Amino acid sequence: MPSFKIALMPGDGIGNDILTASQPLLDVLDLDAEYVHADIGWSHWCNEGEALPPKTGDILKGCRCALFGAITSKPTGEAEQELVPRLQGKGLIYRSPILTLRKMFDLYTNMRPCKSYPGNPNNHGDNIDITIFRENTEGLYSEIEFHPFPDELRAMVSRFNAAMDRFAAIPSQEMAVALRVITKRAASRIIRRAFEYAQNKGYRKVTLVEKANVLRETSGMMVREAHAIAADYPRIELQITYIDAQLMWLIKNPQDFSVMVTSNLFGDIMSDVASQLVGGLGFSASGNIGDKFAIFEPSHGSAPKYEGKFVVNPCAMLLSIKMMLDWLGEEKKASALESAIASVVKAGKVRTYDMGGKSSTLDMGRAIADRYVEVICGRR
Ligand code: NAI
Ligand code: MG
Repeated sequence: MPSFKIALMPGDGIGNDILTASQPLLDVLDLDAEYVHADIGWSHWCNEGEALPPKTGDILKGCRCALFGAITSKPTGEAEQELVPRLQGKGLIYRSPILTLRKMFDLYTNMRPCKSYPGNPNNHGDNIDITIFRENTEGLYSEIEFHPFPDELRAMVSRFNAAMDRFAAIPSQEMAVALRVITKRAASRIIRRAFEYAQNKGYRKVTLVEKANVLRETSGMMVREAHAIAADYPRIELQITYIDAQLMWLIKNPQDFSVMVTSNLFGDIMSDVASQLVGGLGFSASGNIGDKFAIFEPSHGSAPKYEGKFVVNPCAMLLSIKMMLDWLGEEKKASALESAIASVVKAGKVRTYDMGGKSSTLDMGRAIADRYVEVICGRR
């Protein structure tokens, strides 16, 4: 009997392509784990009115961690239209299931490493190694949005903040509002994760990326907490930057940044930019990590136009599996997997379209699994 379970959630679009291509690797990893399938995604929304079937939450509760492919999310109007007729007009509201899972399991750290593997023709440099810590449960993704903006709430906000007066003449129907919630607790724990990581890996600097000159209260909370936490790590410098200029610096001098921490939306954007420095979304892995449970997934989405064509790059998924191995304490396997990926990228014989090649998703997955076996057996 395997000692623990890992859930596999392919989801939508290319999610199935990349998880199928990961199967040869999962087979040779030889973890003492049982892999169990769990449903998630657009077809469940269309047919059941819920992209995250309740059964999936129950399956995940019985697992140590999960691997997730990608989901398709569409705007409110389209989501309603694609519901089966019997579910239309019932006031069902689409919610992104991955956002729900991050909150349901309090997976407050979204860790997104962006590392360049030499030989990748898309690298902006061969010595880029950036890890982004993105707060994963609140900020502008708190899902507290209003349209129309209720009159009562509007009157209340006006009482507390005169900046609201400027919008007095705008009809509620013509106003959409989102709350950017930053709690001290969430700010503090994500920043501590970044500092802990920097300390464990021997990095000398953590860069907090916010916009405290404009978002004085919400980014201000992040800055205050960063100063408080930095005091516990006297050997690590705290650098504070603004998101707009930071994206420019990231492209100009990517080698200057190793450990970065930020709030939810900024982290989502910054990690896609950083991924382009190291070969694009096909190389962008991520882990949604809480205190007891974690879900590992590529940062990219479901790329619907490539669904089922088996042409996309599985490396982001395989690097996410590498993160899972680290999290499980399987450092030797994690390191062998990273070497296998690096080695296949460097050899350049197997390349998917994004790297200028013609190999399939499955070819790439197979080549990395084969190389993994050689590395783990000591055949270099
Ligand atoms: P996307 O990340 O799915 O794809 C954008 C483009 O990046 C693709 O057209 C493709 O050219 C390239 N790409 C992505 N993954 C690749 C890979 N593994 N190998 C090679 N090239 C790759 O973003 P898009 O098109 O904005 O969104 C498509 C759907 O995915 C939407 O419904 C969106 O809501 C959803 N989405 C889901 C996410 C998740 O599941 N965590 C994250 C981001 C978007
Ligand atoms: Mg994203």
